[in-house]
Amino acid sequence: MEIGIIVYSQTGHTKAVAQKLQASLTDQGHHASIQSVELVNDKDPLTLKTLPDVTPYEVVVFASPVQAFSLAVPMKQYLSQIGQLNDKKVFCFITQQLKKAWMGGNHALRQMQAACKAKGGQVSWNGGVNWSSEKREEQINNIVESIGRMIS
Ligand SMILES: Cc1cc2nc3c(=O)[nH]c(=O)nc-3n(C[C@H](O)[C@H](O)[C@H](O)COP(=O)(O)O)c2cc1C
Repeated sequence: MEIGIIVYSQTGHTKAVAQKLQASLTDQGHHASIQSVELVNDKDPLTLKTLPDVTPYEVVVFASPVQAFSLAVPMKQYLSQIGQLNDKKVFCFITQQLKKAWMGGNHALRQMQAACKAKGGQVSWNGGVNWSSEKREEQINNIVESIGRMIS
């Protein structure tokens, strides 16, 4: 299956989780590629240098950090500009520093879900990683295994 893992990552956490997911999906026999959402200039979160195309993929995974108790602005900006998600299987995950999902993670996932819905997409599953939590590795494995299971 053609899978696009579309990531915004400022300091590398979200990208590291995406790479684990990519490796696992590749082991399962899928063709999974990571596409990065990048900024022209770190000081301007609204102007994107790259706008990955969702068209080639049957499955799309959107991944972003939480910033200021919300979805990071570049991912929000990106999702408002993508093409239609109808007929695609969609997954989302976030990473956040703080230990509790209510400290921005839940809100960010709701924002991703609404943005996908606005493009005709239904999010099949979403998850989060609390980077400072002792459960971090467990949470990362849960994302990798849950998405892997739901695709196969
Ligand atoms: C500007 C900014 C705001 C942030 N706000 C939050 C927040 O509200 N809640 C939280 O849990 N973490 C917050 N963080 C931490 C990041 O969500 C966390 O470190 C994340 O894993 C970073 O992912 P990345 O390395 O892929 O950019 C913030 C980080 C930055 C840079």
